Amino acid sequence: MDYQQFIDAQIAEFKKTVGSALAINALSGGVDSSVVTALAHRALGDQLKTFFIDSGLMRRDEPQRVVRIFADMKIPVALIDARAEFLAALKGLTDPEEKRNAITNTFYAQVFARLVKQTGAKFLLHGTILTDIEETVAGIKRQHNILSQVGIDTQQAYGYAVLEPLKTLRKDGVREVGKLLKLPDEITHRIPFPGPALATRIVGEVTQERLDTVRAATAIVEEELADSDAFQYFAVLLNDRATGIRNNKREFGQIIVVRCIESTDARTAETTRLDWKKLDRICQRIIQIKGVNRCLYDLTAKPPATIEYV
Ligand code: XMP
Repeated sequence: MDYQQFIDAQIAEFKKTVGSALAINALSGGVDSSVVTALAHRALGDQLKTFFIDSGLMRRDEPQRVVRIFADMKIPVALIDARAEFLAALKGLTDPEEKRNAITNTFYAQVFARLVKQTGAKFLLHGTILTDIEETVAGIKRQHNILSQVGIDTQQAYGYAVLEPLKTLRKDGVREVGKLLKLPDEITHRIPFPGPALATRIVGEVTQERLDTVRAATAIVEEELADSDAFQYFAVLLNDRATGIRNNKREFGQIIVVRCIESTDARTAETTRLDWKKLDRICQRIIQIKGVNRCLYDLTAKPPATIEYV
């Protein structure tokens, strides 16, 4: 595909569809939503308002970091604090699809609907990519941002139209477009991070405490594997506990799984053969996290596993 042609066509399409109206989009700092932000900002300028929704499910320091990167590109991003809203929506939920639905609902029916009302926007722009659509339609996993493809009429359900400029691309294509749009390497080279964020890496209920645990583990894994060249790497908090000993006392502790995979488009994935010393170092650091006494490395390919746990 000629990606420059793709960019030109999308810019023309945005101008035609949005006309003189206002559009909004939510930036998560991931490659997909960053590319949508840069692309639409080129097409619409001030007619686009970009928000970063702090769901409380993000990685450490993520909201401030993303706002800064885009400020450097002269794209203003407003930070919305929705942490309490998301935690309340997830309270008591353990089923993966119920958790995903709660997040979708909080984003679209609550937060975005409110922002659309406040700004008077007619359109919401989305970073949906082809893989998201295929997996949702195939019934593998309900991606948080799939709406029309599962029969949701957003105009009727939420009061706004959704535009999905990246829906014909896969991850590798999105990265190419990002490079042409001159997004910094720290965005285009970034490992994928799902919209439902750390909630996809907490098996069982998402609580503040469990979020803090997986956030701390994620920071360690990302730091240790930054130079690994792997497609994606992260930490997962299991819903089980295991017996351990700490300071000569029995401890029934938390279990963290480390996942590191090779892939080009996230449709299939192989486990990275990490160096033993590296794995050992990650384990030594993870078991320093309060309440965690076991660290496992996941060897499973996709399929049969998916990349995320929820
Ligand atoms: P799975 O877990 O389905 O993940 O093998 C495939 C790729 O997609 C990411 N992922 C998501 N991205 N919304 C997103 O924007 C989601 O709901 C979602 N679920 C998974 C995942 O990180 C991997 O790169």
